[in-house]
Amino acid sequence: MVFGFGGYPPAIAGGIDLITTMVVGPASSDLYSRAEKAAHTIRSRTAEEARIAIVLGSGLGAFAEEFENSVSMPYQQIPGFVSSTAEGHVGSLVVGKVEGIPVIAMQGRVHFYEGYSLEEVTFPIRTFKLLGVKTLVLTNAAGGIDVQLNQGALMVISDHLNLMGINPLRGPNDERFGPRFPDMSEVYSRELQELVIEEARSLGVTVRRGIYAGLAGPSYETPAEIHMLRAFGADAVGMSTVPEAIVARQMGLKVLGISCITNMAAGISEHPINHEEVMETGQRVRTTFTQLLRRLISKMPG
Ligand code: HPA
Repeated sequence: MVFGFGGYPPAIAGGIDLITTMVVGPASSDLYSRAEKAAHTIRSRTAEEARIAIVLGSGLGAFAEEFENSVSMPYQQIPGFVSSTAEGHVGSLVVGKVEGIPVIAMQGRVHFYEGYSLEEVTFPIRTFKLLGVKTLVLTNAAGGIDVQLNQGALMVISDHLNLMGINPLRGPNDERFGPRFPDMSEVYSRELQELVIEEARSLGVTVRRGIYAGLAGPSYETPAEIHMLRAFGADAVGMSTVPEAIVARQMGLKVLGISCITNMAAGISEHPINHEEVMETGQRVRTTFTQLLRRLISKMPG
């Protein structure tokens, strides 16, 4: 008979598991060493020491193609990274320079709705911390709830509502990453919000500040849900960003969030929402969006 754990019968294997847990600590310390391994792999491929990381959302990944001296690593080549199954998400980590400043970018992210755990979704953010990243820029495609946010508008996230029904920090906590009960009173750096408003103004682009509601998806919302979200104070709705922002704040990173309003949320406009429209709008704002990102990177403190 063949047994799973080194050939030991299950009862003994259980005992070995227990001993392993006592010796090497709980699974959470394992997360730290897995992130170290991923960071090591990335370091072995590039000499750049990026202090800024950017997550490029649906239809916004093209920005990374403009990086100078870039190295592109498919997620499959980085241990612990899982691959994106969503259309419009390339699934590569790109390290290079923007305006002479080293930057690390995720060309596409993975989402909770794809079936991944939030530990898997936020694993790249853990890795960025170990790579020495100080500032995280999260971008996404979102539906506009505030009627002043038209299709193609950019919104700088001032705060969020975590309505995914789960928190990425659930489970054992490893203090090396941060505290068990991290403060969330300023998830999105006010200083960086101001910078976005200022830089957008000098580009002649209007950017509004607003609250992002993060839902699990993958179905779009019903008009009744959008009605409820509006009453909750949400200005835009999407299916990402919130878990990454929470994990980043736990680790003390500065966070900036920018939503590209790709469609009006359900019931705000008459016509049905579809993923093609989301992608097309992302393409349409590409030039403005990348100009803004370039300026932000060159002006970011630290
Ligand atoms: N709802 C949720 N997520 C989205 C939307 C939306 O309307 N548009 C783009 N991502």
